[in-house]
Amino acid sequence: MRGMLENRVALITGGARGIGKGIAARFVAEGARVAIADLNGEGARNTAAELRASSEACRAIGVPVDVTAADSVRRAVEETRTQLGEVEILVNSAGFSKIARIEDTTEEIWDRTLAINLKGVFLMCREVVPAMKQSGWGRIINLSSQSGKKGNSSYTAYCASKFGVIGLTQALAQELAEDGVTVNAVCPGVVFTEMWGPEQVADYARKRNMAPEDVKEYLTSKIPMKRAATVEDVAAVAAFLASDDAAYLTGQSYNVTGGTIMH
Ligand SMILES: NC(=O)c1ccc[n+]([C@@H]2O[C@H](COP(=O)([O-])OP(=O)(O)OC[C@H]3O[C@@H](n4cnc5c(N)ncnc54)[C@H](O)[C@@H]3O)[C@@H](O)[C@H]2O)c1
Repeated sequence: MRGMLENRVALITGGARGIGKGIAARFVAEGARVAIADLNGEGARNTAAELRASSEACRAIGVPVDVTAADSVRRAVEETRTQLGEVEILVNSAGFSKIARIEDTTEEIWDRTLAINLKGVFLMCREVVPAMKQSGWGRIINLSSQSGKKGNSSYTAYCASKFGVIGLTQALAQELAEDGVTVNAVCPGVVFTEMWGPEQVADYARKRNMAPEDVKEYLTSKIPMKRAATVEDVAAVAAFLASDDAAYLTGQSYNVTGGTIMH
């Protein structure tokens, strides 16, 4: 049976691990050729090798990229073009999160959060849009968050960046609506990826004044479905948005929150 993304070329930022890796695996299963682009270049190559080992037909490559730097973004898209073909599907999953009260949010934390989560999305989109417009087909999928829909204390920089991603998504969707290029956002709730490592768990424990070992259970208990999202839950939405079936959907932000957010 043909996959829903047969022979499409996709570039996934932040694809070395976590949600980006889950999306890469689903896209490969759907027949796409995938460039895994990550600041961790070795991680990107390892993830690509892992995917190739899982299926003989798999065309996956690892590409180093720093999404905050225009030159690096240009090189990553060029390398993908040379090795796989023109980028037809862009997934912006590279991200950074630091939980801190406003008094503890340094300019470095603010700048880094906005650079990776928002400027990175802008630079990646700017690089791939011309070829998508020219071919008359393209899909852009941006990882926002439930923190892009609703304020969350101790997440000022992160919320600002993720609300910003939704604004960028809507503006670009309008701009490209007549070009066959759709632009949508996906807003996960809690996904226990490496992002929820010991440092973030400790920061969250401080925010709630609770023991670090209680954090994951507490977060899960607040979700109506009483479970965190899996990377597969998020990847399923991304695969649909990247497919031909989603041709009439643009400028939307899809919650993958188990019922936590409903707007
Ligand atoms: N995990 C969650 O609970 C959750 C919830 C909502 C939204 N999100 C968003 O989903 C996306 C993926 O999250 P995740 O949990 O997989 O995160 P993660 O921390 O596990 O992975 C992020 C990846 O981005 C890469 N990266 C960081 N800076 C980069 C840069 N400058 N250039 C290129 N790559 C860079 C990292 O190397 C890493 O491989 C992020 O945008 C995140 O904000 C995550």
